[in-house]
Formats: sequence, structure tokens, C-alpha cells
Amino acid sequence: MYDVETIRKDFPILSREVNGKPLVYLDNGASAQKPNVVIDAITNAYAHEYSNVHRGLHYLSNVATEKYEAVRGTVQRFLNAASENEIVMNSGTTEGINLIAYSWAMPRMEAGDEIILSVMEHHANIVPWHFLRERQGVKLVWVDVDETGGLDPQKVLDAITPKTKLIAVTHLSNVLGSRVDVKTITAGAHAKGVPVLVDGSQAAVHMPVDVRDIGCDFYAITGHKLYGPSGSGAIYIRADRQAEMRPFMGGGDMIREVHKDAITWNDPPMKFEAGTPGIVQQIGLGVALHYMMDLGMANIAAYENTLRDYTRTRLDGLNWLNVQGTTQDKAAIFSFTMTGAAHAHDISTVLDKKGVAVRAGQHCVGPLMDYLGVSATCRASFGLYNTEAEVDTLIDALELCHELFD
Ligand code: ALA
Repeated sequence: MYDVETIRKDFPILSREVNGKPLVYLDNGASAQKPNVVIDAITNAYAHEYSNVHRGLHYLSNVATEKYEAVRGTVQRFLNAASENEIVMNSGTTEGINLIAYSWAMPRMEAGDEIILSVMEHHANIVPWHFLRERQGVKLVWVDVDETGGLDPQKVLDAITPKTKLIAVTHLSNVLGSRVDVKTITAGAHAKGVPVLVDGSQAAVHMPVDVRDIGCDFYAITGHKLYGPSGSGAIYIRADRQAEMRPFMGGGDMIREVHKDAITWNDPPMKFEAGTPGIVQQIGLGVALHYMMDLGMANIAAYENTLRDYTRTRLDGLNWLNVQGTTQDKAAIFSFTMTGAAHAHDISTVLDKKGVAVRAGQHCVGPLMDYLGVSATCRASFGLYNTEAEVDTLIDALELCHELFD
């Protein structure tokens, strides 16, 4: 049974006050809070088990290497990849997508080739592709969402032309909360020989992910949103795609031999992990993923869906609030603007005075803001520890905003 009050006790920060009020943390889309098991694992790794990995033959180096490498297997299970060798560890989704842009895409794309993106992509899944546009003349092809913020997979598939070399799409919008049917997109794309990269930064937090079921070629996740440390993460790269990739970053660990006039590469996934990695961050990520899997990803999804439904009902009662993204198939992420003079920054400042933490601004999704015709939104994004009582506090604070700015 999912006991949110017990779960909340695992997160020490949730019992603090902000501006004299109990903290209501609704900025999980930006970064999630950490449970004691993760905080303790980080402290323990530095206090008792720290050393560099893959390099030493001494006791501590072996312990650190074993703990670090065990995380690869944890991520493999979390994503249901076929092999832990398909997991490249990194600092998060931004690094993961840049790796694919530099290592896989750049060598095989030329002027006029096309990459399909949805209009609700995060900058991490836009800017690396702009590099290819600027440097190699690759064309970015944009697919709009519908009026509910949903993305029709068929519209993505209809955008494929003989020039399409990649579809890069989010699994769940960080602003609208919309879930994307990446399995249908992948099946249709593969039928036409087009690989698919999925940005799983948000989706992996809120629902079970099975990369083999989806069938995608690349799937990126980021640790700090998964209740793990900042600077941790991983990308799933299917073995056949790894074989097509040249290294991106050069340095220690990713090579087998280096001579004055020759080098040979290490085998994947090490071939794509140059230099000393985020050892302790990754160890913390492994513990965070175990924490989530112990709760059960399906249980987390079911609980958050009840929170989503409750929030939706409460927000629907506020006719001066414009909620962006009304699709039924969404996670508990709500972006909104307020009629009248209040800017998103004003709303967030008032909410903060009531202890409610939300994000205000463009949320790293410039094209979506342009598409929606808004300069900024306020976003309440929920996590596995939020409660209906916190939704009520949010609504009370929004009503205060409305009184102040109407
Ligand atoms: N990607 C993060 C967000 O959506 C930072 O807020």
C-alpha cells in the first residue's frame, strides 16, 4: 500500500519551513528532493568508500568501482534494457543528447537532411540539433501539438520524408505534462528506416519505462529529477547504434591504448565515458532508482494520477486561471497563466510567501511558449511525496494572488 505520509518522512527537507510556512514543494519538474537513503549513500561513499574508479588495484578503488558499476545494472533494470552495456552513464539528459548529436548524428548527416522535433521539446532536445543546423545545414522539422497539448503520433510520422534521418521527441512534456505515444512513433519510424531518440527526463520520473517495449534507439534520463543527485544520469543506446558511433569526448577510460601516433578505443559503453565520472553522484542515482523501484513505478504512477485528477478538479474551479495542456493523458504537471495583470513571476513570488515553491518563466521550452503565445507560465509539478492537502494550499495561495492582482 502506498502510504504517502510514511514516504514523506524519508525526505528531510519536506519538514522544513519557508517564509514561516510549511514547505509545499511543487517544483519537481525542475529538480526533485532527495530521500535519506540517497543522502546517506552520498555521505557514506565520501566518508568511507571513496576512491577513483577503473584505475587502481587497491581495496578502495575496487570497492568504488564495484559500487559505481553496479549502477549500470540498476539503470538497465529501471529501463528494462537488454544489456547493461547499453547504458552509458553521464551527468544527465543534456550530456546524453549531446553525445548522440556529436557521436552518432554529425558524422552521418549532411545539408538538407531532416530531424523531426515536436514543438514541446526542452532546449536540451533542441539546441544540440541546432548545432547540426548551423554547422551542417541540417533542417529541423517541427510538429505542433493539438489544442489540448497532446501530440498525435501520426502527425509525427506524416512529417517523415526521404530526407528524415532522426526523430527526437520527448516522452512527457515538462510544461504541459502531456504523455507522448513514443511506441507508436518508433514503430512507424522504424518501418521507414528512421531512428528515434526519446527524451525521458520527465517520463521516467512518473511512470514505468520499458525501452525494449518502446523499441527506441536512444532513451535519455537525468538523475536529479529521479530523486538522485544533480550531475548524475544515463542514456540507453541500443547496441547496434553504439556500433555506429564514434567517440565524442576524449580522455582517460574511453581508450584501450594510446601511443604517440595511434590510439585504440575501449569497448562500449566505456568508449563513451571519458575522464573521471561522477562517481558518488552515480552511486546516489543507483540508490534513488532502487528507492523508486521498491515503491514500484506502477504504484507511483497510480498515486500521482490521483493527485493529478484532484488538482485538475480544483484548478477547473478557478475560472480566472488559464491552464495550458488539458489532454487527459498527462502527468501531474500544470502550467498556467492568470487573467489580469499578474505575470508568472508575480504569482510565483506570492506563492513563495505562502511556502509554495513553483517554477515561473519559459521552462527551457522557447518554441512551445511561442506556439502557445505566452511569454511565461507558472508551473506546479508534482512528485511522489506530494499530497492533496498541498494542492489545497496551492489553491488558497492562487486565490490570494487573484485577490491581489485582479
Ligand atoms: N528541465 C527542467 C524544468 O523543466 C529544468 O524545469
